[in-house]
Amino acid sequence: MADRDPTTQSNYQQIASVHIDFDWSVDFTAQVLSGSATHRMKVLADDVNEAVFDTGDLQVSGAEVNGSSANYDLKAKHEVMGSALHVSLPKGLKSGTTVNVTVSYKTTKDCTALQWLAKEQTQGKQFPYLFSQCQPIHARALAPVQDSPSVKITYSAKVSSVLPVLLSAIRVSPPADGPAHDGKAIGQDAVVYTYNQPVPIPSYLLAIACGNVRYRPFAQFEDKQWRTGLWAEPELLEAAFWEFSEDTNRFIAAAEQLLTPYKFGVYDLLVLPPAFPYGGMENACLSFVTPTLLTGDRTLVDVVIHESIHSWFGNGITHAHAAHFWLNEGWTVYTERLVLQILYGPAARGFSYIIGAKGLVDDLEGFAHNPRYQQLVVDYQPGEDPDDGYSRVPYDKGANLIFHLEQTLGGLDVFLPYVKDYINTFIGKSITTEQWKDHLYEFYSKNGGPEKIKLLDSVDWDGWFYGQGLELPVKMKYDETLAQAAYDLAARWDASRSTALESITFKKSDLADFNGNQIIVFLERLQTLPALPVSHLKHLGSLYELSSTSNAEVRLRFYELALTPPTSEAAKHFVEEASKWVVGDDGTGVIKGRMKFCRPIFKAVHKVDEKLALDTWAKNKEAYHPIARRLIDKDLGLYEETA
Ligand code: BES
Ligand code: ZN
Repeated sequence: MADRDPTTQSNYQQIASVHIDFDWSVDFTAQVLSGSATHRMKVLADDVNEAVFDTGDLQVSGAEVNGSSANYDLKAKHEVMGSALHVSLPKGLKSGTTVNVTVSYKTTKDCTALQWLAKEQTQGKQFPYLFSQCQPIHARALAPVQDSPSVKITYSAKVSSVLPVLLSAIRVSPPADGPAHDGKAIGQDAVVYTYNQPVPIPSYLLAIACGNVRYRPFAQFEDKQWRTGLWAEPELLEAAFWEFSEDTNRFIAAAEQLLTPYKFGVYDLLVLPPAFPYGGMENACLSFVTPTLLTGDRTLVDVVIHESIHSWFGNGITHAHAAHFWLNEGWTVYTERLVLQILYGPAARGFSYIIGAKGLVDDLEGFAHNPRYQQLVVDYQPGEDPDDGYSRVPYDKGANLIFHLEQTLGGLDVFLPYVKDYINTFIGKSITTEQWKDHLYEFYSKNGGPEKIKLLDSVDWDGWFYGQGLELPVKMKYDETLAQAAYDLAARWDASRSTALESITFKKSDLADFNGNQIIVFLERLQTLPALPVSHLKHLGSLYELSSTSNAEVRLRFYELALTPPTSEAAKHFVEEASKWVVGDDGTGVIKGRMKFCRPIFKAVHKVDEKLALDTWAKNKEAYHPIARRLIDKDLGLYEETA
């Protein structure tokens, strides 16, 4: 496995940024972010004569080295990797010395890192909104950087804007809990926000959000040094506070109990507008979350466990590059489910594995024609787009591998000391799968000896890392206590298929004791059985209010069930409703921008009624995030390679 990051054109192995100072101004009228990035760089190889940065559709207007203007060359654009920016350095630089490189630039309309929302696309509908999404390789479209997670940087920033500014760092001024926008006129007066991120992070954790947002702190937790709180538009602040305030501190405290102390000082949540393309994104100090988590019953708060656990796996120990992405997500999911067990018992942990297993099989099936992406460790080629390989595979194969190791080595008592040692060994660094595995062996040879090494040698490493197909190398067993009721109800519906509607006896109260996740498991179980007749599906949808629920996770499963097979009567019946839901033509005016929802719905609608899918997409595409636009274009066969 090559050690070089295949997604960057930068020369980060010769010279590497250690700190970046940003000076930005946000222009909502022109939809441009402009300013400069000053890199403090450490020379790693004698006589390196240039610093090469990644840029994505940036307009570069100048470069300076140690304060004097320098020659630079912005190369032609590679469709995925962007344009390499070569800045000339003085001759004779010696390894170990430091240089400062400043690049002045602005973003352009093709920027894939930023989404600029019109005021109508926000909750309050009064002010525009800007947010970034840099993972995996979009930081280069926000600023010239060495866009590889192998490079870890601290950063400071000064941002001028007419709307409040949030960054993935600690607020220096004005104070977060002071008057909004420093008491100035929101939307009119420019205020300068300053931030500092003293912990080294990979570039994909750079983040900005800018809009009419307010802060509400969560209560301090026991004697903890860290602080947590919530950012949202004022219209959502109350509901969001209710959804997250009970649990956020408990989650982090539980993680600290299992792992090591939280070291970023602040853990805030930001609830984004509906166009946000992910469920959550673990930006340092400030996780971004989709507004679809606000179901009013706290059933989807697990996403906060996930994002906060990235503070250790991902933000703390970072994958060296795309091939090792599973080290971030697999470890995070494994630990997220461990936190579930600590807080709610073993049944909750097993249940989460069961939900994950279905998502995993779906994605593995989806990659039948591209089996490389079925691997846990993917040998990305230079210039290949990691967004194309994104799936549940690194998440669930990864979590299952670690769960399997826990069981193989003798359970949590012998595994948790290893987990702590893993963190203490690598926190602050970027590592490969091989480094991870070497450390595992090293730990158990010191703490257990030949007997543990024999157990480790029994693991089918090649199968786990490089295996393709739909099966895990080991048949895993999960606690099914919570799933059983869902399975039983699915079996009753399955058995009712030949009974006429008038004589079937399902009641709304069948779901009375189910939480949202059990409804999901019930619907996913039905998806694995032969399709129900249209009469039954209609009844199912209305009786349990599945085709009107505001829980998007449940609604997605219902439409996935109803639209399969694509030629069925039921598919024809529900296709229009599903397509209206996903674009907000259902009376809510709210799009489902989270790719977990919009991508499968568009794909399913496309299979049932191609014209409907293409027309609906053409009409609504502009409202979606640039990343979602590109991927749905591909999903619907509309993407033209321009390179
Ligand atoms: N880091 C990911 C999101 C991500 C991964 C963005 C790769 C871009 C490229 C985040 O932590 C995540 O996994 N989000 C999940 C939610 C989670 C509960 C599984 C999501 O958005 O669905
Ligand atoms: Zn994650």
